[in-house]
Amino acid sequence: MSNTQWWQTGIIYQIYVRSFCDSNGDGIGDLQGVISKLDYLKDLGVAGIWLSPITVSANADWGYDVVDYYSIDPHLGSMADFDQLIAETAKRGIKVLIDMVPNHTSIHHPWFQSALIGRDSEYRDYYIWADPKPGGGPPSNWRSMFGGSAWSYHRPTHQYFLHNFLPEQADLNWRNPMVKAEFDRIFKFWLGKGVCGFRIDVFNMLIKDQLFRDNPEANNDEGYEVKLLGQEPIYTTSRPELHRILRHWRQIVDKNGPGRLLLGETTMVYDMHQLAAFYGTHNELELAFNFAFLQSKFRARDLRRLVEETEAVIKSPDWPVWTGSNHDQPRFPSRWARADERKIRCGLLMLLTLRGTPVLYYGDEIGMEDTLVMPWRLQDSVGKRLWPLYTGRDKARTPMPWQSGPGAGFTSPDTKPWLPIGWAAHRNVEAQAAGSDSTLRFTRDVIAYRNQTADLQTGAYQSLPSPGRVWAYLRGSKTAVFINFSNLKITLDGVAGQVQLSTIRGEEGAQLLGELKLAPWHGVVVHLEGRPPSY
Ligand code: NOJ
Repeated sequence: MSNTQWWQTGIIYQIYVRSFCDSNGDGIGDLQGVISKLDYLKDLGVAGIWLSPITVSANADWGYDVVDYYSIDPHLGSMADFDQLIAETAKRGIKVLIDMVPNHTSIHHPWFQSALIGRDSEYRDYYIWADPKPGGGPPSNWRSMFGGSAWSYHRPTHQYFLHNFLPEQADLNWRNPMVKAEFDRIFKFWLGKGVCGFRIDVFNMLIKDQLFRDNPEANNDEGYEVKLLGQEPIYTTSRPELHRILRHWRQIVDKNGPGRLLLGETTMVYDMHQLAAFYGTHNELELAFNFAFLQSKFRARDLRRLVEETEAVIKSPDWPVWTGSNHDQPRFPSRWARADERKIRCGLLMLLTLRGTPVLYYGDEIGMEDTLVMPWRLQDSVGKRLWPLYTGRDKARTPMPWQSGPGAGFTSPDTKPWLPIGWAAHRNVEAQAAGSDSTLRFTRDVIAYRNQTADLQTGAYQSLPSPGRVWAYLRGSKTAVFINFSNLKITLDGVAGQVQLSTIRGEEGAQLLGELKLAPWHGVVVHLEGRPPSY
């Protein structure tokens, strides 16, 4: 493949900065903490890191309620720290993506504060305001993703403002050219700082129906978030006008040279054609998250079907993204694998061997599970609002366990971290780095193999025939992956070649002379000799 970009051959690693490493002992992870772990990430083999929001925030939603798009949140460090991070990552050949939050600002952002002054305020039209319905009440039935109406009433000006998330996160009005111009400046500022691209928060909600038409009620076969929302967000997401904005952003980032990446969060998009549309004709997003895959059951037939559907519409040179965990979802070692080490490794093997960019979430590499967070320790506003119906997202955001013992190497031993540390003695980086058969070793070895194997980096994907509980696929011409998603031992005929990677490590290097024996929940990568198996 010509013109291959770093984000196609390499993997991206998401860092939830507050929970990664605390350098100053205040219980909150920070940029200096990230810098101190860059050698670890280099060793792991990641090509790029995505930092969860680092700009000044009122922290109602931990960075996703921005107060100043141009400065670093003091809890996380300073602009000097950020500059140092860019310099240190560059030394190690690691690219940096930052989280861009264009759908809404904090209500404490100076724009919104000014908008509150009156209907004729200079910044009023930066946000979405509407009169009450005739007879009173919110202008439409739109619900917030975080519960309740998406409209809040502002008594002094007798109008409602829109917030698709918390009432503290006011939606910006992307029909206003001034808002667009503000974000042009913000994008350019950070590109000038040396970032290699952006993960764009809920970009597909930027444009809403101008007539504020009511969303229809959700029906039963909708995806997880739509069910939670209780309505089909047809007038609040994925509106056609979005594409112009994406094409415009793409031009901005492309002006900064090749390899600049736009990675979009496509919330509530489960249809692959809809997802593919955000790639445009190679002139919109380079990557869009695939939530249908992330929320799939951990079953061969579901995953294979989803990947085949994705492959059918996100065709090369367009590029899929594969993710198992992030800061909004339960971690995949808990959700998919229920802490079963065999399943965790099968999940990692799958994520790291499909055609596309794997985005690992911090801790995935050690099989980090969700951590139980008691109601009185909750930090996530959504958890606080909806508990116990929904316990929130904190369980997937707890500190990285670098070692066992108090503080777990995340913070100083006598500091109370902002969220509780999970069972660090059970899983931590230090112990796994020392162990010869650990998840960390496995992840590192799979990444290293991927990084040196053209078939896995850029080779085409093709499903191979296999018994129902096994998912088998070919990458490129010689690399085949077989994963047994069952409790049964399964033998496949017609497989000849050498085992390069195996979730059961002792089998690596074995020569297969026509028969592959898979143990329950066992995955292998085979360098094929001769033709791919056809059974
Ligand atoms: C999606 C982010 O991933 C999530 O953490 C956040 O709460 C919402 N967008 C609102 O910004």
